[in-house]
Amino acid sequence: MLNKTIKTVSPQEAVKVIKSGDHVHLSSVASAPHSLINAMCERGRAGELKNVHIHHLHTEGPAPYAEPEFEGIFQMDSFFVGSNVRKSTQAGYADYIPIFLSETQKLYREGYIKCNVAMIQVCPPDEHGFVSLGTSVDATLAAVETADYVIAVVNPNVPRAFGDALIPLSMIDIFVEGNEPLEPAHFTQPDEIETAIGKHCAALIEDGATLQMGIGAIPNAVLAQLGNHKNLGIHTEMFADGVLPLVEKGVINGACKGIDKGKMVSTFLMGSQKVYDFIHNNPLVLMMDVGYTNDPFIIAKNPRVTAINSALQVDLTGQVCADSLGTKFFSGVGGQVDFIYGASRSIGGKAIIAMPSVTNKGISKIAPTLADGAGVVTTRNHIHWFVTEHGAVNLYGKTLQERARLLISVAHPDHREALDKAAFERFGSHFKFMF
Ligand code: COA
Repeated sequence: MLNKTIKTVSPQEAVKVIKSGDHVHLSSVASAPHSLINAMCERGRAGELKNVHIHHLHTEGPAPYAEPEFEGIFQMDSFFVGSNVRKSTQAGYADYIPIFLSETQKLYREGYIKCNVAMIQVCPPDEHGFVSLGTSVDATLAAVETADYVIAVVNPNVPRAFGDALIPLSMIDIFVEGNEPLEPAHFTQPDEIETAIGKHCAALIEDGATLQMGIGAIPNAVLAQLGNHKNLGIHTEMFADGVLPLVEKGVINGACKGIDKGKMVSTFLMGSQKVYDFIHNNPLVLMMDVGYTNDPFIIAKNPRVTAINSALQVDLTGQVCADSLGTKFFSGVGGQVDFIYGASRSIGGKAIIAMPSVTNKGISKIAPTLADGAGVVTTRNHIHWFVTEHGAVNLYGKTLQERARLLISVAHPDHREALDKAAFERFGSHFKFMF
């Protein structure tokens, strides 16, 4: 018993509500409920379940249900391909639903996917009978609203975050006690190339800007360069450790935001324990539904929205692939298009795609055409700023040939000649007379 009003059961007892054919939602990233996942997998191994669909954004920690041993028992259909399910997805055991992050909640709310069971983690209840979803509001709130059964691990390590994260106990059907620490995400220090990219991006960020930083190595490299900026705000889908020193220094204060002035707005978090401690009982931070944080028209209510996202490949016309390496899915569309479009509609906004010019094997990430099977995440119509360690160029309003010229100017010097030749072959001899 957690207290007099809440009856708890064991994880094994709780997951008995899952039936063959059900759709189960898991809360995301740090907040994946591993005790429930393990108990569900025990039932799978015991032959008690068949064709159970599992949905989530990405999760930290193990994802055993996506492994080949559970073929026919669990079918993972994720909304984003994280590192723990990448191999299974590429091998076809697990699958991926291409979807803008802003619309993941709509899958449940509008009934495209039935949520039978939502398995989540929450902090202990407050004196008013509210718990917090902590680091994972995203599509989890929609899953909680629509599920037949909500199973919650009540875990004192889940931060009591505010905003849409706060839900009444009455939304939960089954309680389980837990004390597992939240899974931290690990980031390396920015290297020389990432630091150069960070500096080019920082030069584009104006005082008073509202920032969104995507996933991957680049965001922390950018944030590390913002120590002398003023009055920055945060309206994003996720943030990590890089924002904390800027909040402490008063650089991030949300003073110029158009909505949620003075507040940092996010929908999930992915960082170290420091980030989870930072949001605990912190009225500065609003953890909101992904239908709010990632709606381009809400994003655009803030002035000077500067969205910085990374990519795997770009072609010479500005088509950006960020979710697959050729036919192999590496991640997902996530919130990239939501924020690129939102930033482009914001007054004084800047939409930025930032990535190293070459891979760690020296392959150019700026290519004449996208690899066979690669899909377009940010279209050539959506792209604005493009940044590598060699500089920043703005492709918006530029012709195809101008774009090719600009992209080649920020390609790795070892690849510029080959890219120039490819552009010449594509656009004809007049390409050499450009500029
Ligand atoms: N050709 C071949 N391999 C490539 C490649 C290319 N053009 N580009 C990258 N790779 C390889 C890298 O070498 C690396 O390989 P490794 O794992 O063996 O080291 C791997 O692919 C990942 O590349 P990296 O540049 O390290 O990725 P990242 O961690 O910085 O993440 C994205 C970049 C694009 C995957 C990530 O930003 C993403 O998922 N974006 C889509 C979603 C999004 O933008 N959401 C917005 C807000 S969260």
